[in-house]
Amino acid sequence: MADARPFHWEYVPEAPPPEAFRIEGGRPLRGTVTVSGAKNAALKLLAAACLTGERCRFENVPEIEDVRVMCEVLGDLGVVVEHPEPGVYEVAAGDVDWLFIPLEAAAKMRASFILLGPLLARFGRVIISNPGGDRIGRRPVNLHVDAMRALGAEIEYRNGYYYAQAPGRLRGGEVTFPQVTVMGTENAMLAATLADGHTVIRPAAQEPEVDDLIAFLCEMGAEVVRTAPDTIEVEGRKRLRGARHSVLPDRIETGTFLVAAAVTGGKLTLENAACEHVTALVDLFAKVGVPVECGARAIHIDATGLRPGDLRACDIETSPYPGLATDLQPPTCVLLTQATGTSRVNEAVFEDRIEWLSELRKLGASIDIEDAHHASIHGPARLHGAEATIGDLRAGASLILAALAADGSSLIHGAHHVQRGYENIDRKFQQLGASIVRSADTAP
Ligand code: EPZ
Repeated sequence: MADARPFHWEYVPEAPPPEAFRIEGGRPLRGTVTVSGAKNAALKLLAAACLTGERCRFENVPEIEDVRVMCEVLGDLGVVVEHPEPGVYEVAAGDVDWLFIPLEAAAKMRASFILLGPLLARFGRVIISNPGGDRIGRRPVNLHVDAMRALGAEIEYRNGYYYAQAPGRLRGGEVTFPQVTVMGTENAMLAATLADGHTVIRPAAQEPEVDDLIAFLCEMGAEVVRTAPDTIEVEGRKRLRGARHSVLPDRIETGTFLVAAAVTGGKLTLENAACEHVTALVDLFAKVGVPVECGARAIHIDATGLRPGDLRACDIETSPYPGLATDLQPPTCVLLTQATGTSRVNEAVFEDRIEWLSELRKLGASIDIEDAHHASIHGPARLHGAEATIGDLRAGASLILAALAADGSSLIHGAHHVQRGYENIDRKFQQLGASIVRSADTAP
């Protein structure tokens, strides 16, 4: 049963009312910004709460659209989700009565697939939609399915849905991936916590969000240990208990604001930022010539003294953590437009995450796109205001960075993509002196 072929939507989620960012560029950003909790940890933590019927409490959860969608999906399953105050969510999966993740959920958010592991492990069956690709690649889920089968699940694929069941109980085993997969690692780990026996996952993703999830699972009473940098081992338990957890800082938002300071010649302090989670980017900044100072829970960057042409071109290649995150490729490319010389970009993780550079070119960047994985950026290029369209979350935030650095006015369509993963990004930039307004998109 070929379920690796690209999945085509017959369902297109109703688009939110169109919004755009109107930006007046050329202003150096100054001040202090607090980094929000990590989207790519929060979504998995909310799903992990389904491993127990007891109440779980999460703090420092980013107020973003993807969190709202995940809570909606959980609510549709019969999970109790409460939101007592901003940034705080309580989840109790005691009365799940519906084990079906519909196309509508998967269409809105690929991360809904992270529910496969916990629901299968806790309830023994789930029907879940194949989360189609999005603008950064086909993004199949075959490795997730293989991992569940390695833990004893039976999974059939029919008409866009996976019908999964675990006769009796999942059983521990060897989960060996042919390549690193972040959510594949997380789905396997979540399922293994309630499986009967010992599970070894390798190569296990090393992203900080995975370790944040491990910490929460241990607070629930799970036995999960990273026994080597790329190996996670789990001793299954019969049941887990409710727990509390505070979401770690978002390293992608951290990198986004560092680039914002660099390309606007600004001076920023990032509070609640974990410098140790952006080492690859900080090392790149040093090569390019932008000094960054790491504190215990803050990062300081002062680009006020930099003149056009001070920055040096630098080749980049994305890779799984601890390498340069693919999610930081778009912001990094904006930085490289200001560096003297040619920077070669190798987007080695996803196959369609280079094409966004054609939008960046509209703001004056000098870029040759060679193929689905490679481009060359020639700098320094003087960026100017323009009209551009956002195709995905990280490219969207990066077009905002370019518009903030550009001379003149920009109109950036597709603001809803950015709202998925960045908490109040326009308000945060406004508080740093930027002229940016999100408003209804009245473009023809
Ligand atoms: C997670 O996606 C993140 N999303 C992505 O962030 C991030 O870019 C990615 O990891 C890589 O760091 C969330 O955590 C919600 P992968 P994930 O499985 O887990 C291929 C953002 O903007 N693959 O590590 O889906 C895949 O196509 C998002 O926040 C298979 O072939 O990524 C890719 O080429 C974008 N089969 C590579 O592996 C599978 O079953 C790595 O993908 C799974 C993945």
